[in-house]
Amino acid sequence: MDTSLYQSHLNTLLSRYEAALDHFKLDAIVLSAGRKSYYFNDDLSPAFHPFSGIQQWLPFPVGEDTFVVIRASSKPELVWPIKNDFWHAPNSIPKGDWQKNWTITEVKDTEAWKSTIKGNFAALGPEHITNASSFDNSEVNNSKINKVSAFIDFDKAIKTPYEVECIRAANHAAVAGHLEAERAFREGASELEIHLAYLKASTQSAFEEPYPSIIGLNEHSAILHYEHKNTVAPSSSRSFLIDAGASKNGYASDITRTYAAQENDFSALIASLEKLQLSLCGKVVNNQSYIELHQQTLTGIAAILKEHDICSLSIEEQVERSIVQTFFPHGLGHLLGLQVHDLGGKQVDRNGTILTPSADMPFLRMTRGLETGMVVTIEPGLYFIPMLIEKTLATQVNHGLNLKKIESLRPYGGIRIEDNVLVTNDGQPNNLTRESFVRFQ
Ligand code: GLY
Ligand code: MN
Ligand code: MN
Repeated sequence: MDTSLYQSHLNTLLSRYEAALDHFKLDAIVLSAGRKSYYFNDDLSPAFHPFSGIQQWLPFPVGEDTFVVIRASSKPELVWPIKNDFWHAPNSIPKGDWQKNWTITEVKDTEAWKSTIKGNFAALGPEHITNASSFDNSEVNNSKINKVSAFIDFDKAIKTPYEVECIRAANHAAVAGHLEAERAFREGASELEIHLAYLKASTQSAFEEPYPSIIGLNEHSAILHYEHKNTVAPSSSRSFLIDAGASKNGYASDITRTYAAQENDFSALIASLEKLQLSLCGKVVNNQSYIELHQQTLTGIAAILKEHDICSLSIEEQVERSIVQTFFPHGLGHLLGLQVHDLGGKQVDRNGTILTPSADMPFLRMTRGLETGMVVTIEPGLYFIPMLIEKTLATQVNHGLNLKKIESLRPYGGIRIEDNVLVTNDGQPNNLTRESFVRFQ
């Protein structure tokens, strides 16, 4: 990647943080990556994920016990832990042009270093939550720190060109995996074999995935966060849902595809949902209300349920009586970036004002309007989830559900189609996921 992109990204971050320093009258903001955690009563750790606030500053995956210090009119300072550890790979500082924009301080004892940072600064990251006493920042209380976080998180939603290129690269790596996963499904592979094919083609280990891949055959594709990978293939693989991403410099892609083994009622349903999904992706433009897009999704899915003879009620009635949520219980999508569900999606200003979704869309993760530079997911779904169907049958007298048709579709599980879309300044959404699929053709 062009190093000037990273440099201008750094300049944007510096000006955002200088605005925060000025606004809150602070001398410094200290970002901490966090520490390794351990399983209870054990010396083994889950994979380490740094605090996204520090990862945003550095063009390589950030490890534990690392800090960044931002002061007005100064180069950012990277505080790098020197580890006296023969159990793990040496913790050397990555080489590269990025270094010339930084002051790098190597420390052997990060606790001792922390005690040297005093006064009027805000420490952001897990250290401030779990270990507040280790920073001597009694001048700045937690409520002010939360306000500083909100101020910074609000701007984080707008991606710099460097961040967009990272998410684009993460899409490209993931799409290579998705293509191999589809091939493995069509050859009758098990969920585990499909996952291994995905990892190999997207050149990552399972620990590096931005979130655990969801790989479901048949009924399993109706389980929204299905976490298992069966080692034995079913006797017949009718359908396949894969929700899987990749990372670049800490930035994620988050992509879902659903396939049918044969042309039938289920594949026709996939085609209808894809048409709706594409039309929603086409509306990812500056000033568009995302809540309104979610409402259009509910209406669009109700239309599909009627068209495919799954529910006989009118579109309006399905939406008004929340029957459509039986088949589409989640939100349309979310902001995407360093975190798969990126920060700031419900924050409508720098003061941290939260716009809570209304009661009929409790799982919507994005209530903020779309702006140029945001990357969001567009991920409508349509599932046959026994628990939700039973609930609707038990609570709605005139439900209009065609139980025979539903019973015939239940063995296929469900459908989700998810792309990552950038809001551009020319009114044309840039669908980073579809662009990658086209590049592989
Ligand atoms: N992969 C999690 C999500 O789509 O939100
Ligand atoms: Mn996903
Ligand atoms: Mn998603």
